[in-house]
Amino acid sequence: MMKRVNTLSSEQTKEKKQTIFSGMQSTGVITIGNYFGALKNWVKLQDEYNCLFCVVDLHSITVKQEPAKLRQSSRDLLALYIAAGLDPEKNVMYYQSHVPQHAELSWILGCYTYMGELNRMTQFKEKSQKHVENINAGLFTYPILMAADILLYQTDLVPVGHDQKQHLELSRDIAERFNNIYGNVFTVPNPYIGKVGARIMSLQEPTKKMSKSDENVNAFISLLDEPNVVMNKIKRAVTDSETTAIYADDRPGVKNLMDIYSCATGETIEKTKEALEGKGYGDLKKIVGEALVAEMEPVQKRFFEIKQDKAYLDSIIKKNAETASYLANKTLRKVKKKIGFPE
Ligand code: TYM
Repeated sequence: MMKRVNTLSSEQTKEKKQTIFSGMQSTGVITIGNYFGALKNWVKLQDEYNCLFCVVDLHSITVKQEPAKLRQSSRDLLALYIAAGLDPEKNVMYYQSHVPQHAELSWILGCYTYMGELNRMTQFKEKSQKHVENINAGLFTYPILMAADILLYQTDLVPVGHDQKQHLELSRDIAERFNNIYGNVFTVPNPYIGKVGARIMSLQEPTKKMSKSDENVNAFISLLDEPNVVMNKIKRAVTDSETTAIYADDRPGVKNLMDIYSCATGETIEKTKEALEGKGYGDLKKIVGEALVAEMEPVQKRFFEIKQDKAYLDSIIKKNAETASYLANKTLRKVKKKIGFPE
């Protein structure tokens, strides 16, 4: 009897937990920007929330992809999620392309989203400038698919980097618009944007976001870069014409290095300033580089172990996609009924 009471209360606690959804595109290896802006926060939040972490491969094809590479990088990304500390037994981790409800809800929500809203999306403007030869409709409607990802699971909180804030706001607007017509169908999600690390900047142009698609490989650090590569990229990082470190907005290169240190060590900005302000740039870069390597090495080691274990990864993928599909269907059924599709 006693045991039953305990079980019940733990289930009740589980029910009360709020839901998190987030995802990353599987295009090449992720950067320390993706890691500090998103993935590391997911790891911190996984115990407090019911979490779904998706490899958003449907989003990836808005730019041209090579099939074999896409397949491999999706798999690697899932292995990296686990290597970074996400527990596949506790969280629902899966490929977006395995759960067709994402695309289905996306079509529906597209009919409740205005062209003018999509036209305002800065990421669309940036990406269409970058890929002039391939400004496809998917690139334009991308934020609707993102809204579908989130709303499908009645998500309360979406941990992302700063660059996704505008997309999140659109997801909220779509949810509210739909709810105003049909009653309370969707939970209206809130963004979770970390205090430090939400905007890791390019090492070569520190006023620009760090991005894995940067043509200059010295501008970004991939989570799988080897220690000597990391040290060299940090050494080459653009700073300014001053000589000693100060944490200030008008010193973006130095500020970025100090932010990276704070993220890698888990120290507050205050403690980071105490540790690094006044250092010469040579010393600063050495300390930051070493802290970064210390943070990355165990993740890399686990990644290569997990990657070997094909059977383990396959079992996770299958089981979690089924769970996601089950949860997604609950929302989708409700949506279809409200709209008036025949049962
Ligand atoms: P993506 O794949 O571009 O990036 C994944 C996550 O990394 C964050 N990020 C950064 N954070 C700090 N500094 C940077 N330099 C940096 N670069 C990237 C992003 O903000 C993101 O959190 N559209 C999304 C993927 C997505 C999604 C979703 C996210 C699809 N559906 C639903 C949340 C919920 C994207 O392209 O992220």
